[in-house]
Amino acid sequence: MITDYGEQRQRSLIFDYFGSDARIRVLRRAETFGAAVFVVDFDRGPRNFRTLGSFGAGAQVTEQSSMDLLYPARLVFHYERLMSLSFAMSARSINALLLGVGGAAMWRFMQAYLPDCAPTLVDSDETIVATARRWFYLKHRVVLEAAQRFLAGSSARYDVILVDLYGPGGPAEIDEAFWVRCLDALAPGGCLANNWADFAVNPKVRPMADSLSAVAQARGLEPIFVTRRGFRDNLVQYVPTVPEIRADCVTDVLERLVRERHIPDRGRGILENCIVGTAFPIA
Ligand SMILES: C[S@@+](CC[C@H](N)C(=O)[O-])C[C@H]1O[C@@H](n2cnc3c(N)ncnc32)[C@H](O)[C@@H]1O
Repeated sequence: MITDYGEQRQRSLIFDYFGSDARIRVLRRAETFGAAVFVVDFDRGPRNFRTLGSFGAGAQVTEQSSMDLLYPARLVFHYERLMSLSFAMSARSINALLLGVGGAAMWRFMQAYLPDCAPTLVDSDETIVATARRWFYLKHRVVLEAAQRFLAGSSARYDVILVDLYGPGGPAEIDEAFWVRCLDALAPGGCLANNWADFAVNPKVRPMADSLSAVAQARGLEPIFVTRRGFRDNLVQYVPTVPEIRADCVTDVLERLVRERHIPDRGRGILENCIVGTAFPIA
């Protein structure tokens, strides 16, 4: 019998969102993250998914990470597939830094498609990392630290840096010093990619994206923005350091990724209906 009415309400919100036949595997508070998180299994036609979700402001359900239970290494969210392009925007992929582990989707992808690339994983929330180990096949050491602190205390260099830092209120507070450290942490020829969720409606996003662009441009680097038409999906902002990687060659980048890494479905759909540019896509 459920005696905690807060929990009962959260369960009913999960069923409203994922359907009444969804199976809630776990629902618990993640202290550092600052909200309740949950794991839910659900079906969409013949496909079965497992999602790590959380509650945002106003008890809103937010999907943090998702896994196809039949093909766990395949990326479910379109923005994650976009972020994977950064492995073909960098001159080499010997190592990668994943800031924000969530349900470890990018890590599973790397294990399967970039087994020769050494990942470093950083996440600030112990409960989320434990949940990823228990429910999302994560089997890799994770540095339990805020990404900002990790970068401030590290002098390592990475070919690819993926930034996907989200809490219950949206994107983590990221300032210019963070972007400076991120770009300093890129190996020569490296590439950074950042995920911006709700970029068209969240007023916090634009200033942070502009700050990354300014830090990049001060080094003579041109950011690239990719999102799907309609502005309802996420926006990915890349900072490649190889001068030849420009917005007009993103299709070639995808071709390279498919050719070298045997991406599922030959990467079909990744760039379909996408807007690619060098400026934040909305005024
Ligand atoms: C959207 S999830 C990341 C999903 C991940 N990219 C994947 O492959 O499944 C966001 C994660 O960022 C973490 N996070 C938020 N702010 C952080 C910070 N300042 N430092 C480190 N991790 C943070 C949260 O704990 C959460 O696990």
